[in-house]
Amino acid sequence: MNYKPVQILSIGMAVPKKVVTNDDLTKILDTSDEWISTRTGIKQRHIADGDENSTLFGIEAAKDALQKAGVSGEEVDAIVVASSNPYNIYPSTGCAIQEAIGAKNAIAFDITAACTGMLYALEIGRSFVATGKYKNVLLVATDTNTKFLDWTDRTSCVLFGDGAGAILITEAKDGVDDIIALNVNADGTMGRHIQMNLVGDNCPLVEPATSGQQKITMNGKEVYKFVMHTMPESIMKCLEDAGLEPKDIDYLVPHQANLRIIEGLQSRLEFNDEKVIVNIDKYGNTSAASVPIALSEAIASGKIKTPSKAILCAFGAGMAWGSAVVRLREGLK
Ligand SMILES: CC(C)(COP(=O)(O)OP(=O)(O)OC[C@H]1O[C@@H](n2cnc3c(N)ncnc32)[C@H](O)[C@@H]1OP(=O)(O)O)[C@@H](O)C(=O)NCCC(=O)NCCS
Repeated sequence: MNYKPVQILSIGMAVPKKVVTNDDLTKILDTSDEWISTRTGIKQRHIADGDENSTLFGIEAAKDALQKAGVSGEEVDAIVVASSNPYNIYPSTGCAIQEAIGAKNAIAFDITAACTGMLYALEIGRSFVATGKYKNVLLVATDTNTKFLDWTDRTSCVLFGDGAGAILITEAKDGVDDIIALNVNADGTMGRHIQMNLVGDNCPLVEPATSGQQKITMNGKEVYKFVMHTMPESIMKCLEDAGLEPKDIDYLVPHQANLRIIEGLQSRLEFNDEKVIVNIDKYGNTSAASVPIALSEAIASGKIKTPSKAILCAFGAGMAWGSAVVRLREGLK
C-alpha cells in the first residue's frame, strides 16, 4: 500500500478564564505556594467555572486550529477527541464539536488515553491520513480534571488545571511527512496508580455496589518513578526510529505534569532552557491538552521558531505514554 504522508496544518488551544493561584488553594487546603512551586513548578492553574465544561473548551480549541489553517468545518473529514473526563459519555464530545464547527462531512468519536491522549489521537489521525480515505483530520484533546479531583487530597488536587488543545493534520502534498516518528505504549499492570471510576447505581432489585469512587486517586511517588525510567527510554527509541540524535532536535515539548520530571528529561537530552517548552507554572497539568497547549502557546509567542523539529512526549493514567518527533513547518500557526 502506498501510505500518504502527513502535514501538520495548525495548532489551537483554549483555557478557562478563571485562574486559581497556589495562594488561593491555601484557603481550602493545608498547603503553601512554597511547597507546590518547589515540588511541582506550578504557580497557578485555569479552572472551569460554573457551567463551563470540556466540550466547550474543545470547541474553542477546534475553532482556533481551523481558523489558523484557513480550513472550514465542512472540509474536515474526521474528528478524534481525546478526553478522560468528557462532559457527556454520549453523544461523544467529537459529535458535539462536529455540530459546533459545522463539520457535516466528518466522522467523529472519542478516545481515552488520559494524559497521553493527544499522542494516541495523533497515532490514529496519521493512520487515517495514511490510508488516503481521510484528508483533513482534526485532533482535539480536552480535559476538565478539576471537576473530578478530591479537593481534600492535597497530594493530588494541587496538580491539575483545565483546558483544550487541537491539532489539524492533512495529507502532505509535497510528500514530506511531518510525523517523523511516533510511538505510543501502554502498561495496564500499572493501572492502579492513577484511577478515576465512573460510578453508577445498581438496579434496585440487586445488592448496591460498594466500590468505586468518581474522583481522581493517584500514587504520585509510583507515577514519578515509573515515568523517570519509561519516558527517557521512549524518547530515545523515538529518536532512533527517526534516525536522529538529540542534537538534531530544536525543542522538547513535554507533558506538563511536574517541572522536576521535565528537568530530568532536559538533562538526559542535554538541552539548554531555550529548547525546553515549559508552561506548567501557568496551567498545571491539563492532561491530554497539555502538549498541544504548550505547543500552541510557544509557537504563538515566538518561543518556538519554525521551521524546526520537536519532540512531543506525554505519560499518564493507564499507564500510557508516548513520544513523537515532528516537523514544524515554516509559518506554522
Ligand atoms: C505528587 C508529587 C508532587 C509529590 O511530591 P513528593 O516530593 O513525592 O512528595 P511526597 O508525596 O513525598 O510528600 C512529602 C510531604 O509533603 C506533604 N504534602 C503532599 N502534598 C502537599 C501539598 N500540596 N502541600 C503541602 N504538603 C504536601 C506530604 O503529606 C508529605 O508530608 P510528610 O512527609 O509529613 O508525610 C510527586 O510525587 C509527583 O509529581 N509525582 C508525579 C505525579 C504526576 O505526574 N501525576 C500526573 C501523571 S499524568
